[in-house]
Amino acid sequence: MMQLEPLQPIYFDAARKLLERAFPYDQMGVVAEEKLGSENGARAGHAIAALVDGALAGVLATAGRFIKLLAVAEEHRRRGVGSALLRKAGELAPGSRLRLLDHPGNYLSPGLDERSIEARDFFLRRNFVEVGRVENIRAPLTNNPLTTDERADELAARAGALGYAVRRLSDCDGETQDRFFSFVGSEFSPVWSFETRRALKGPAKAVHAAWHGTTPVAFAAADGNNRGLGWFGPAGTVPAHRGRGLGEALLIACLLDVRALPEGGVIAWIGPKEFYRKACGAVDDRRFLQLEEK
Ligand SMILES: CC(C)(COP(=O)(O)OP(=O)(O)OC[C@H]1O[C@@H](n2cnc3c(N)ncnc32)[C@H](O)[C@@H]1OP(=O)(O)O)[C@@H](O)C(=O)NCCC(=O)NCCS
Repeated sequence: MMQLEPLQPIYFDAARKLLERAFPYDQMGVVAEEKLGSENGARAGHAIAALVDGALAGVLATAGRFIKLLAVAEEHRRRGVGSALLRKAGELAPGSRLRLLDHPGNYLSPGLDERSIEARDFFLRRNFVEVGRVENIRAPLTNNPLTTDERADELAARAGALGYAVRRLSDCDGETQDRFFSFVGSEFSPVWSFETRRALKGPAKAVHAAWHGTTPVAFAAADGNNRGLGWFGPAGTVPAHRGRGLGEALLIACLLDVRALPEGGVIAWIGPKEFYRKACGAVDDRRFLQLEEK
């Protein structure tokens, strides 16, 4: 008999194992716990277990209308468990169109990996449609002349000559850090501020900013989402200070911070691909479908 209930801590280990097998393209061993915790600083979430005869058969994590994870153990598939969890996701977000995976600030991946054919067909048969395509790219962090300590120093010096100070945020005092996080929240988005705070708390402390006097004008962070993998982002330069090499200087500084992490160099959910190609030699990596209910 199947039962749906909030995921209890006694099932966390089983959930991690189930997710590791269900998501072969992701590093679930590293990020399962973070993904089952659904918050992004703005939206609280739910983690639901599907139990069949007392054993964990499936897992759902949602935050508002976002399905952050939906997975069924292989031996329990094609028996209606996935459909029951999907219905539950709908009940938890009444009146809204469900969306898959790309929960801002706390996402496993920015869409469904295009190799996940079984899952794609499952959702397409359940009123979901493709609403976009996004990709990750990856910068090589070894044997790449664009990602060296010397180049980071050179770019920081170039920014210095234009009147900007490029600094590691963990070297700034608490008050300056608070000012910095307000800047990210108001100039860009509160979710980016949340993600950047998480990056600062990580082992790599990969957060760098460019300052014009006492005012932050650009920032970049890595390892804030999927902590432990080393993914780059978020990053932004306020419009009035663009085109002066700040984004590039901050990007390289962050990439160097995460070079020892398993997926350091991955630049997730990218916008300006050409910028990253030129700045750090990034090459194509994974591609994703964005799926949403009709
Ligand atoms: C996608 C996924 C969750 C589906 O789980 P599932 O438990 O197999 O889903 P269901 O059993 O409800 O439905 C799957 C199919 O089995 C069929 N089915 C259900 N009960 C059945 C039964 N008793 N006998 C035969 N077929 C049955 C369903 O009709 C459905 O087919 P359809 O899509 O043609 O209608 C599962 O494949 C999975 O975990 N994939 C990996 C994780 C992933 O990629 N998740 C998506 C991103 S978050």
